[in-house]
Amino acid sequence: MPRNQRFDVLFEPVQIGPVTAPNRFYQVPHASGMTNALPHVRARFRGVKAEGGWGVVCTGAVSIHPSSDDSPLPFAMLWDDKDIAAHALMTEEVHRHGALAGVELWHGGACTLNRTSRIAPISPSGMPWLSTHLGFMGNLKPRSMDATDLRDLVKWQAAGARRAMQAGFDIVYVYAGMGYLPYEFLLPEYNHRTDAYGGSIENRVRLVRELLEATRDAVGHKCAVALRISLEELRGRPGRNAPSEAHEVITLLADAPDLFDVKMDSSPTDCAPSRFAPEASHEPVIDFVKKLTEKPVVGVGRFTSPDVMVSQIKRGILDLIGGARPSIADPFLPRKIAEGREHEIRECIGCNICISSWHDGVPVRCTQNPTAGEEWRSNWHPEVFAPPASDSSILVVGGGPAGLDCAVTLARRGYAVTLADAAGEFGGRLRFERRLPGLAAWGRVVDWRLGQLRERANVNLYPGSELAPDDVLGLEHRHVVIATGARWTKMQFSTLEFPVGELDGPGVYTPDDIAAGVVPPGPVIVFDFDNYYLAGVIAEHLGRLSSEVAYVTTAGNASAWTYMTNELPLVHRALGKAGVPIHTLQRVAGFDGECVTLADVYSGAEKRLACRSLIVVGIRKPNDSLYHALAARPKDLDRAGIAGLSRIGDCFAPGAIVHAVHGGHRFAREFEAKAGEAPYTRDYPV
Ligand SMILES: Cc1cc2nc3c(=O)[nH]c(=O)nc-3n(C[C@H](O)[C@H](O)[C@H](O)COP(=O)(O)O)c2cc1C
Ligand code: SF4
Repeated sequence: MPRNQRFDVLFEPVQIGPVTAPNRFYQVPHASGMTNALPHVRARFRGVKAEGGWGVVCTGAVSIHPSSDDSPLPFAMLWDDKDIAAHALMTEEVHRHGALAGVELWHGGACTLNRTSRIAPISPSGMPWLSTHLGFMGNLKPRSMDATDLRDLVKWQAAGARRAMQAGFDIVYVYAGMGYLPYEFLLPEYNHRTDAYGGSIENRVRLVRELLEATRDAVGHKCAVALRISLEELRGRPGRNAPSEAHEVITLLADAPDLFDVKMDSSPTDCAPSRFAPEASHEPVIDFVKKLTEKPVVGVGRFTSPDVMVSQIKRGILDLIGGARPSIADPFLPRKIAEGREHEIRECIGCNICISSWHDGVPVRCTQNPTAGEEWRSNWHPEVFAPPASDSSILVVGGGPAGLDCAVTLARRGYAVTLADAAGEFGGRLRFERRLPGLAAWGRVVDWRLGQLRERANVNLYPGSELAPDDVLGLEHRHVVIATGARWTKMQFSTLEFPVGELDGPGVYTPDDIAAGVVPPGPVIVFDFDNYYLAGVIAEHLGRLSSEVAYVTTAGNASAWTYMTNELPLVHRALGKAGVPIHTLQRVAGFDGECVTLADVYSGAEKRLACRSLIVVGIRKPNDSLYHALAARPKDLDRAGIAGLSRIGDCFAPGAIVHAVHGGHRFAREFEAKAGEAPYTRDYPV
């Protein structure tokens, strides 16, 4: 299809110092969790984005010295020449598709705890980064840098830049963002220095300028020099002669880099989750930068709509459309716009599971794109599929995230697919959850897959079709895949932190009851030991409707696992706003229909709260009765010509949506693969 002319501006080349980006799609630096230990996995992950049309593809943060050691979190490095080859694999892959490769050189300062190198972290004035999360807390506090340390830092940056150039990078970064070392120099809370690097804004900016100059000296005219800088805090501080210190910093550095890459200061605002922030949420903070510099500016904001991108360019906010998550969710986003297929973009849902993979210390995972991180090791290309191995037709029962992805992937391979669901609409758990506060964008998991299925002639869709075992046997499909999801139980949590028997009886509900339309009479208590989003969202939802809702959890925070997805602080705020009190470190010890007895998980101390409805959000079990009923009839399956019966997603092992999608996808990719055709290739350092 021809490109829609109103998007032409997105495909204009942009000069960045001595290099030219072929278009305005810029994959900003984002970690992949792959590290130098998985160089082929990493190279293909980046290369696929270049193939998908991103004009610039960057690394994540790349440490320049062992005093910036983020272990056990995954991080890349260019500490010495032995690290060059690992990065060269990536630049080769990126260049093969005509894109530029960027590298974000990085020193974490007081934020990196140097757990492996055991070097005392360095910082402007010995001020630690005060983490609120256990995973980031450390007991080795940073020391103040002296003049030699400052000279060393500049030398490390220059050496990193030379190695980056040897590895084939076209754009080399100085990174002054997110609490890391050069950023710490910008803020007086970290920087108490009385020398030429502290005090006035000119002095606080000096180190960043020196790093930029050293980088330029190192790369000459071969590479562009970029500055990635966080502006949120600085924008909030009045400047001496300008509206804010952010204005002063950009003015002082206006000519120093070839490109400004502007972002927010903390992960929850920078990688803002869709539950709490819309597309383009950075604009109010970074909208002034282009007015103060002639250099091109790239910025981010979960951009998935080409119209919003065009608007950012036309209104003079940005020159290049930065993407981290949108490039993970759909590496082919630019190509789809270029080819007039923008309706096929698999839009990021803003769930931040990708961030959680970094916290987990594993290669990046994505709810929307199950091929993320699997491009090399599983040989999964996001847009290329192995042809069918037979003319088998497949019945997929259950159109939730797993069934939908399984069906769409089988259909893209070319199999004849029938997808049936008992409910009147597809979506599984998302039929309910997408209607809860902040979760509308998560519905894209359903919408994208249904859109793809509806376009294909080899697909039959049957919503509103509850299938009994005899129905399945009579439908003459060669393979049957059961994807009937899971149900919430009323199981409880013991003092020893393991699941115990169910608490049943009047007034006890699960999320499935709320999904079915039950309006629980107040006072309501939502009891959470699932710890991900759902209990918090249900409490927020009910809290908006009534003043008699409280949230109780065995964990130390509301929706405790959402610290992995940047949502936790915002969950607390949302519950506060909805008037929902939070009771942490409590388990339910009893419920009599009028009151719930809570016991402190450590001391056992009890308290009673008025409660007529108790919603238990704890453990899910597979809805696998159809699967077992069929599996128990092997002769009937044989007679019906059914060669294979399988189960996928929550029906097999309950998990988050990301796991369901991945499970459905893996089944479809590996369906009828011969031995050795479904590789799981192990990577090795180079
Ligand atoms: C998985 C992941 C890892 C990230 N790692 C980095 C990083 O190493 N360096 C960096 O400057 N920003 C990092 N970011 C932040 C992104 O570059 C970007 O600023 C942020 O995600 C907002 O852009 P988006 O809305 O396009 O995702 C990361 C983001 C994600 C999602
Ligand atoms: S995991 Fe979620 S937030 Fe991250 S890229 Fe995928 S859809 Fe977007």
